[in-house]
Amino acid sequence: MASELASTQTAGIAARSSGRLELERALTDAHERTWSVLANLTPEQWHVPYHPGINPPLWEFGHVAWFNEWWVLRDAYWNAREENVTRRPSMLSGADRWFDSGRIAHVDRWTLDIPPLAELRDYANAVLDGVRARVAASDEHELYASRLTLFHEDMHGEALAYMRQTLGYPPPFAIRVPPLSDEHADVDIPGGVFMQGAPDDGAFVFDNEKWARGNARAGADVAHLREQRPFRRVRRRRRLRRSRLVVGRWVRVARGGGIRPSSLLAQRC
Ligand SMILES: [Fe+2]
Repeated sequence: MASELASTQTAGIAARSSGRLELERALTDAHERTWSVLANLTPEQWHVPYHPGINPPLWEFGHVAWFNEWWVLRDAYWNAREENVTRRPSMLSGADRWFDSGRIAHVDRWTLDIPPLAELRDYANAVLDGVRARVAASDEHELYASRLTLFHEDMHGEALAYMRQTLGYPPPFAIRVPPLSDEHADVDIPGGVFMQGAPDDGAFVFDNEKWARGNARAGADVAHLREQRPFRRVRRRRRLRRSRLVVGRWVRVARGGGIRPSSLLAQRC
């Protein structure tokens, strides 16, 4: 199991710079995974009450397809006024009015007149076909937007999974959690210098991963790092408990520290 988890992590890193064939396969896999999280919802379960921590599932499904089309098939770019615009319209008339997460406030996503599921599935399938064709016809150095859409869709796959959990829906499929070796043992965090962030090596990265910089762990000679701002310095050597974190325990720990759990929830994208 541990090796299974390690191979999954390695595959995720490799996808940042994968070539056309691997990328095409990964995009198809992400598309199928997105649908697999939603496929067994009943008609009633598609309609959810407003909640600040999730998106309506129909909106989120359409948004993922829209994002893929926006960046890959519509050739989005930043114009001279630093506006993100496209060179061609969507194949789904009205898509920008419904699914642009930068313009549609979170609270408004519950009351949009978005198309029915069958129409959105046709749209998502057509977008995938177009993206795959575009990837197949691209040079290796033209794949940044396709890699962006891959990681974006995977991110929304996770969001859809916790949408189900938030609403008390059962898991969409059997989920196996790899066992931890030496659970409840402590993990030693030694002093030293580590690199935080992604290296500037041409592979895909999200904006908030740019760029790797030196960070100091306790006990390290950090004099040469003081000119690099910001960096974090851990004041002393740490030992952390190796343990699964379940939601109930996390909420108790947060409240014990005077923190409202809801204040730590990420804003929806
Ligand atoms: Fe998004």
